[in-house]
Amino acid sequence: MAVIMMRLDKYLADMGIGTRTEVKKLIRQGKIAVDGAVIKSPEAKIDTEKNLVTLGGKPVSYETFEYYMLNKPAGVVSATTDAKDKTVIDLIETRKRKDLFPVGRLDKDTEGLLLITNDGELAHRLLAPKKHVDKGYYAKVEGVVTEEDQKAFAEGVSLGGGEMARPAELEIIVSDEISEIRLTIQEGKFHQVKRMFESVGKKVIYLKRLSMGTLVLDETLALGEYRKLTEEELKALC
Ligand code: URA
Repeated sequence: MAVIMMRLDKYLADMGIGTRTEVKKLIRQGKIAVDGAVIKSPEAKIDTEKNLVTLGGKPVSYETFEYYMLNKPAGVVSATTDAKDKTVIDLIETRKRKDLFPVGRLDKDTEGLLLITNDGELAHRLLAPKKHVDKGYYAKVEGVVTEEDQKAFAEGVSLGGGEMARPAELEIIVSDEISEIRLTIQEGKFHQVKRMFESVGKKVIYLKRLSMGTLVLDETLALGEYRKLTEEELKALC
C-alpha cells in the first residue's frame, strides 16, 4: 500500500474517533500518543503505515478502505442517511470510516447481499452498466412461472416506458401458485426484478439477492449481520 502522510487530527477523525474539533481537543489534552510519545499538535504529520497512534494507550489503526458484506434485512433503506428509516450503514456498528456507502441499492423490502465500502473505484467497476456484472436473486413469485417466462426473460422483456431489460437467466425451482425462482441479471435498473415479473403478469412477493459478480452471500450471516470481506473475496472482486 502507498505511504500516506496526513495530519493527526484528520487521521483520528477519519477513524471515527470524533469530529475534527473533538479530536483536536483530545490531542491538546494529551490523550494521543504517536510511537509512545504524547503529541499535542493536531497538525503533526502521521505515516499511516509506520506510526503507531494510540488513544488512552489503545491503538487506533488507520484503514484507507473498508469492505463489508451485509445480509440486508427488510425494513432498512439502502442509503447513507435517512430522516425516518434505519439505513444499511447504521447496521455496520464496527465501522471506522465515515464515508461508507452501499454498492447499489436494494429495495426497502428486499433482503440479502449488499457490499458496503468507501472504495469508489470498486463500486464503479461493479455498477457501471457496460461492465455487465451478474447479480443473482432468489424470489417467491405469485403466479405459475413457466417456460414461456424463461424464454421471454432470455430474450429481454419490456420494463415499460420504452425501457428493455437485457437477456436474463431464469431458473425455475418451484412452478406453482406461489413459484420459487433464481434469476441472474446483468443490470441494476430501478425495481428491475419486480418489473420483469410484472411484464409477464406476475408479482414478486419476496426477494433476496444472493450474489454480485464473484461475491456470494455468506449464508452463515443472519439477517442484519455483516462481516468484513476476506482477502480472497476482495482479490476476486478486484
Ligand atoms: N430488483 C428489484 O426489483 N428490487 C431490488 O431490490 C433489487 C432488484
